[in-house]
Parts: sequence; C-alpha cells; structure tokens
Amino acid sequence: MARLKTGVLISGRGTNLQALLDACADPDFPAEIVSVIANKAGAQGLERARKAGVKASFLDHTLYEAREDFERELDERLREDGAEFVALAGFMRILTPWFVDKWRDRLINIHPSLLPAFKGVHTHDRALESGVRIHGATVHYVRPEMDDGPIIGQAAVPVLAGDTPDRLAARVLEAEHALYPACLRLVAQGKARVTAGLVRQDKDFGASETDALFNPTA
Ligand code: GAR
Repeated sequence: MARLKTGVLISGRGTNLQALLDACADPDFPAEIVSVIANKAGAQGLERARKAGVKASFLDHTLYEAREDFERELDERLREDGAEFVALAGFMRILTPWFVDKWRDRLINIHPSLLPAFKGVHTHDRALESGVRIHGATVHYVRPEMDDGPIIGQAAVPVLAGDTPDRLAARVLEAEHALYPACLRLVAQGKARVTAGLVRQDKDFGASETDALFNPTA
C-alpha cells in the first residue's frame, strides 16, 4: 500500500502533530509524515518530529520581505522532502492564495471551533461569551479565505458550567487529537474528496456518514 506522503507545518507545541505522528507509527495507517517544518525556532513540535525519526526543519519567515518569498521556500522544501500533501497543525501564519492554490485540495487545516462559527483567534473565549452549549474543532481543506474551505470532519464537545477558556480549550484539544488522524485517514483513503465545493461523506467514496463526526464525551 502506498502511503500518502504528508508534510506538517507547525508554529508551536505540536500536540496535534504528535497525534498524527502516533497514528502514522502504525504501518497500516494510509499516510506517513515525511517532513515537519516550523516557522518558529523553538517550536516544541520540532523535537517531537525528531524523536519520531521524521525530518524536522525551521524556516524563519522574518528573513523574507514578502510572504510569497517565504512560501516559495516552504513549497520547495516540502517538495524536496517528498511531500505530496500538507497538513497545518497549529501553523499560525496566514498563507497567500499563491501557496493555497498551488496545494489546492492537498492542503488541510485544523481549527479550534465548529466552523463556520468562530473563525480567527480566541475561539474558546468567544464561544463562552456567546453562550453556545456545544463547541469543538473542524478539519477542512484550505482555501484563500481564512478558516474557510470544504469541511472534512468535526468533533463536538459540551460547554460545561464553570468552564474557563483554558478548561474548554483542553476539552477541545483532546477532541482534536482524535479528529485530526481520523480525517487524515479518510483523505489518504480517498474517502473525503471535494466535489462541487463540499466534501460529501459519500458512499461512492466508501465513507460512512459518521466517519468524521466525533463526540468523545458521548
Ligand atoms: C490547536 O488547538 C489548533 O486547532 C489551533 O492551534 C492549536 C495548536 O496546538 N490552530 C489554530 O488556531 C489555527 N487557526 P498544537 O500545537 O498543540 O497542536
């Protein structure tokens, strides 16, 4: 079985990267991680990659005047490392349409809210302020608009009495760690393709309608 050669872009601690590394440690998992690139020097995720025997490198975006110049280097490095697919895992840098179009339908992201609610930052504070009872995380294909694109999977968690942003964030993060590998699996198996702007959990692709729906507390 050919495994989908995946590059992962990170900026920080890399717990979602760890969930992907752990899933990919199983030789039967349909994807493998061939490259981890961070745009922050001290990103803890780089150490996680090295421990897992995966090539890890740092690309300093502050050295480039234009966003696209940084992205050209990023694109080149991903290709050199053999990546044919890219997963953003806490990569806190907006990508230009140039990069997004180059990797169209081969670029996914995890976002800590049930999109299309709470795009952007501080999603847990905003969820609490808005009084929603259910919050969660989304894995989606990336489009040039921020936190937009065909949704592959979502994980829902309850908002509980007495929640603080940190408590809620921890509950969502645990759900993210189940969601991201499951979505990468679906994509690598060809079960989460984009058709007419949406990912349909379509029997035509061999996916069940609940393959990418998570409620870990249920
Ligand atoms: C995760 O919660 C991820 O959803 C979020 O950053 C965190 C990274 O944590 N991503 C975004 O906010 C992207 N807009 P991690 O480094 O431990 O995986």
